[in-house]
Amino acid sequence: MVDLHCHILPNMDDGAKSIDESIQILKMQEEQNFERIVATPHFYIQKESLDRFLKRRTDCLDKLCKDSQILDIMLFFKLGAEVFYSEDLVNLDLKKLCIEKTNYLLLELPTDYKPLGLEEFLYELQIKGITPIIAHVERYRYAMQNMDLVYDWVSNGCLIQVNAGSIVNSKTMRKNILKLINSNLVHVIATDAHNTDRRKPLMDEAMKILKKKVSIAKMAELRKNSVDIFDGKSIDIKDIKKPKKSILGL
Ligand SMILES: [Fe+2]
Repeated sequence: MVDLHCHILPNMDDGAKSIDESIQILKMQEEQNFERIVATPHFYIQKESLDRFLKRRTDCLDKLCKDSQILDIMLFFKLGAEVFYSEDLVNLDLKKLCIEKTNYLLLELPTDYKPLGLEEFLYELQIKGITPIIAHVERYRYAMQNMDLVYDWVSNGCLIQVNAGSIVNSKTMRKNILKLINSNLVHVIATDAHNTDRRKPLMDEAMKILKKKVSIAKMAELRKNSVDIFDGKSIDIKDIKKPKKSILGL
């Protein structure tokens, strides 16, 4: 399996706070049958320059790879980023923030309001040959209250990621995610792991829950999508539907 969204680089963002914690998260991912992961630290254009972010990211990975404990970990890494939306992003070379050697960009949106200029930005990305993957869509109140928005994003070429932890920890988010999955509006499940405690990798538990609710074919499709994205291949967009009704409140 492939984890396309996690915060395992030590002291890079609000994820792992030390090399030891990075190693512990990686061990958890390994136990949950991940073979490949993408490290996706937060990038906020308002907080630091792209060059500084890229340098810090490389330095953090170097530190982790130099630690002898890493020899116990049999995971293959790629670098990526979780890029927080801003209209100013259009001025950057966003290919540098895509998952390494792919044209996929993990994009985080504000939780409480749909930002101005988003549709234009999503369009601009695709003009540049970049496919946006909208991170943890279940956390965006406005998108859950109006799932037609998610339908429109997918219709317009975006992919949708949800968090394993949301499936496990929140009944409301689980219901919303199932509704989206059943409408073919989810492409990726990832851990978004930050630590070994409240935001640990929960893929095993999420899969156990989903297996009871979702077809084997759909489960296989979701797993394959993550593998294909990691490899930079294109994804089959299935017959998407507009979800009938939204559940309010997160
Ligand atoms: Fe994240």
